[in-house]
Amino acid sequence: MAWIKPFTWIKLLVFALSLIPAGRLVVGLFTGGLGANPVEFITHTTGTFALVFLMITLAVTPLRRLTGYGSLIRLRRMLGLFAFFYTVLHLSTFVVLDHFFDPAAILQDVFKRPYITAGSVGFLLMVPLAATSTAGMIRRLGGRRWQQLHRLVYFSAIAGVVHFLWLVKADLREPLIFAGVLAVLLSYRIAVWRNAPWAKKRAGRT
Ligand code: HEM
Repeated sequence: MAWIKPFTWIKLLVFALSLIPAGRLVVGLFTGGLGANPVEFITHTTGTFALVFLMITLAVTPLRRLTGYGSLIRLRRMLGLFAFFYTVLHLSTFVVLDHFFDPAAILQDVFKRPYITAGSVGFLLMVPLAATSTAGMIRRLGGRRWQQLHRLVYFSAIAGVVHFLWLVKADLREPLIFAGVLAVLLSYRIAVWRNAPWAKKRAGRT
């Protein structure tokens, strides 16, 4: 195994760790470990991890610039695809387990319940990002256009946080933590665009 490069090990480790929430759901499904309301449990787990992976993906560039550890960029695509993976599982739970593929009921929810509308926007914004995540698509679009398109990730994250804030009825703590993290990441981005010297430190290509 010595021929595998050290960073490949890190990538494999991050990949395995990222699969743990999905693995726990699969095990829970077969062992009855998803509590009294399994559909709710799956919806909450997949929704939460969709947002967690979005935040981690957005944190890669600032961490890379601030630490100078350039290789972190090589984890970004995989982390972004995990955000998409958990969102697809989340959406599938809604379509299959909540609404049993009933298009009328699904569309009624999408247009009548604002938090579902916000979630749908968040998901739709992720689709072009996942579809253009391959090296071939980056080449075909050209680096600059690809980067511009991938700024949509910020809007997807905003829609995801709004979705969470909107659906919570009493305890706002969890969605507010996500909102705070996103505010910090967005402020950093804005500082880079406005050429703030502290944010430009060790600035790289992205
Ligand atoms: C078509 C898209 C989506 C639909 C239909 C949808 C639907 C839902 C539903 C029905 C719930 C449970 C509401 C409740 O407990 O009353 C939920 C919760 C949640 N969703 Fe979504 N969602 C969508 C997209 C997203 C996206 C894009 C994200 C994040 C990136 C997200 C993150 C969350 C989170 C964090 C929760 C709350 C989890 C918790 O209670 O701990 N959702 N969603």
